[in-house]
Amino acid sequence: MGWNRRNILMAHITILPQQATAEVADGLLLLDAGEAAGVDMEAGCFNCSCGTCVAEVVSGMENLSDATPEELDVLDQWNKDPEKFRLTCCVRLNRGTVTLRQSH
Ligand code: FES
Repeated sequence: MGWNRRNILMAHITILPQQATAEVADGLLLLDAGEAAGVDMEAGCFNCSCGTCVAEVVSGMENLSDATPEELDVLDQWNKDPEKFRLTCCVRLNRGTVTLRQSH
């Protein structure tokens, strides 16, 4: 009976500059995926409103959930391009591979 790990763990995250990596269940918040990689992720409100958790998406933006109006507002306040930066507390890693760089 083969219990295939790949059936459950479908996504892969790398956090820079630590180069920490983890395989995670798809659909996980980036914040939780980063913690799963052993990184102490910066966060404040956990509610997509403060911007503390902002991180640069080095690659894999296409694998992330779409930005909500709330997220776009916060990124705008921080003067961060939503094509390059996301809030890890409110974005899900839907599939595939994503590399993030923590901004703090
Ligand atoms: S922790 Fe506040 S916006 Fe993510």
